[in-house]
Amino acid sequence: IPVDPFDLVIFGGTGDLARRKILPGLYRRFLAGQMPEDARIIAAARSEMDEDAYRAFVAEAIAEFVEPGHRDKAQIQAFLARLSYVATDAKGSDGWDSLKALMRDGVVRAFYFSVAPSLFGALAEKLHEYGIADGDSRIVVEKPFGRDLASARALNATLAAHFNETQIYRIDHYLGKETVQNLMAVRFANSLFEPLWNAQHVDHVQITVAETVGVGGRGEYYDRAGAMRDMVQNHMMQLLCLIAMEPPYKFEPDAVRDEKLKVIRALTGVGHDEIVRGQYRGMPAREGRKAEPSYTEDVGNAHSRTESYIALKVGISNWRWQGVPFYLRTGKKLRNRISEIAITFKEPPHSIFDEDDAWRENVLAIRLQPDEGMTLTVMIKEPGPGGMRLTEMPLDMSFADWLSEDADIPDAYERLIMDVIRGNQTLFMRGDEVEAAWAWADPIIAAWEDRGERPHGYDPGSSGPEDALMLMHRDGRRWREIRG
Ligand code: BG6
Repeated sequence: IPVDPFDLVIFGGTGDLARRKILPGLYRRFLAGQMPEDARIIAAARSEMDEDAYRAFVAEAIAEFVEPGHRDKAQIQAFLARLSYVATDAKGSDGWDSLKALMRDGVVRAFYFSVAPSLFGALAEKLHEYGIADGDSRIVVEKPFGRDLASARALNATLAAHFNETQIYRIDHYLGKETVQNLMAVRFANSLFEPLWNAQHVDHVQITVAETVGVGGRGEYYDRAGAMRDMVQNHMMQLLCLIAMEPPYKFEPDAVRDEKLKVIRALTGVGHDEIVRGQYRGMPAREGRKAEPSYTEDVGNAHSRTESYIALKVGISNWRWQGVPFYLRTGKKLRNRISEIAITFKEPPHSIFDEDDAWRENVLAIRLQPDEGMTLTVMIKEPGPGGMRLTEMPLDMSFADWLSEDADIPDAYERLIMDVIRGNQTLFMRGDEVEAAWAWADPIIAAWEDRGERPHGYDPGSSGPEDALMLMHRDGRRWREIRG
C-alpha cells in the first residue's frame, strides 16, 4: 500500500543506524513501490558534506547492506535523487534555515532522531524555534529510552514540551518483526489458542533471545547498559506483553498499548535467587581458530561487572497468569542465534497410557529468527506395529516455506518507518509503557548493584552460565536448547 507524500528528515543521517538499517530499508521500500513520487529524504548531521558526497555514502550503504538481488543500478540512482543533505548543528544555528527552506507544505513531516538521547531535547527545541515542525509532524526516537525511570521520565518531559504523545514514535524494532506481529494474529484471529492461554492450561513460558555476536564496537554504550537494560527492559518486555496481554478491543494503537501497560504493571519483582547474570570469557587461539577476546577486553574495562547474559524468572500478578512463571534469557556470544517464545502447556489431568509412555510436553514455539515460524509439539501414537506407544511430533509451520522466494517481507525498520508516515502508532511504545518497564527493572538492577554482585563467567559458544540451568531445574523444568 503506497503512503502519503512525505519529507523525512533523518538527524544522524551519517550514523551507523542510518547506514545499516534506515537508508537501506528506505531503499527497499522504494523498490517495493511504496514511496510516492514526491517523497523525499533529507539527511541532517554535523559533518560538512555536499549532496554528491552524501549520495555516495548512501550508495555504499546500499551496496553493503542490501541483498545483491535488489541492487538495481537505475533504481539506486532514482532513489538517490530523492535524497538531500543539510549540515546541521543540533546545538547551534547552523543549517536550520536551510532545513526549513527545504521542507514543503502539504506533505507529511517526519523527523527521525537517530542521535544520542542527550540531543533529543535540543533537536525538539530547534524544530520549534525555526518553525520547522507543524502540528501534524512526527518524531521518531530510538533506544535507549533512558537508563532508568528518572532519566526516562526526564526524556518524556523534554519531548512533551514540544510534541504531543500522538506525534512521538518510540521505536522498539522488535515490534516491527514479522513474527512478533504474527503472534497477535495467532492469538486473536483463532479461537483455538485463546481458551488455553491462561494459568489453568499453561505450565510456563520461555522467552529466549540468544545472539552469537559479542558487544563488538559498542563497548562504551553496552558496558553502561548490560543485557537487562539493552534487551530485557525493552525488546523482551514487549514480547512478554504481547503474549500475556488481554485481548485489546481493537487492533488500534491505544487499545493495544493500554493492554500492554497493564501487563507491565502486574509484573512481580524478581528475587536475587531468581536471576542469573553472566559475562562471556575469552578464548585462547586453538586449532586454527583465532583467539576471542573476553567481555572485559571487548569493552576495555577489566573490572566491569556488567552482564552480557541474563536469565530471570518473573510472574504476572493477575487473574489470567497467577502462578505461571515466565522465564526470560538473553545473551551475547552464545551457541546459536535464535529468538523464540515457547509456551509449554500442562499435562493432561489423567493418563490412560502406560507409565513407560510418559507424557512429554505440548509446546507451542514461536520462532522470531533466524527461520521464522511456529511449531506445535503434539503427542501421537508412534506409527507402525509396535502397539500403543506414544511419541511427540512437531506440527511445523515455516513461514519461509509458505512464502514464495521473492516474497517481500520488510525488515523491522522498514515497516516501522512506513507506519510513522501512515500515522499508525500501534507498533510503537507509549511514554507510560516505557516508564512502567523501568519502574519494574530499576529495583532489580539496584538490588544486584547493592550486593556488588559479579556476573558468572561463561564460555563463548556455550548456552550461558551453568547457574542459569539451576534456575529451571529447581522448578523441575529445563531450558529449551539453543539450537540453530
Ligand atoms: C539492539 C541491541 O537493540 O538489538 C543489540 O542494542 C542487539 O545489543 C540487537 O544485538 C538485537 O536485534 P536483532 O534484531 O538482531 O535481534
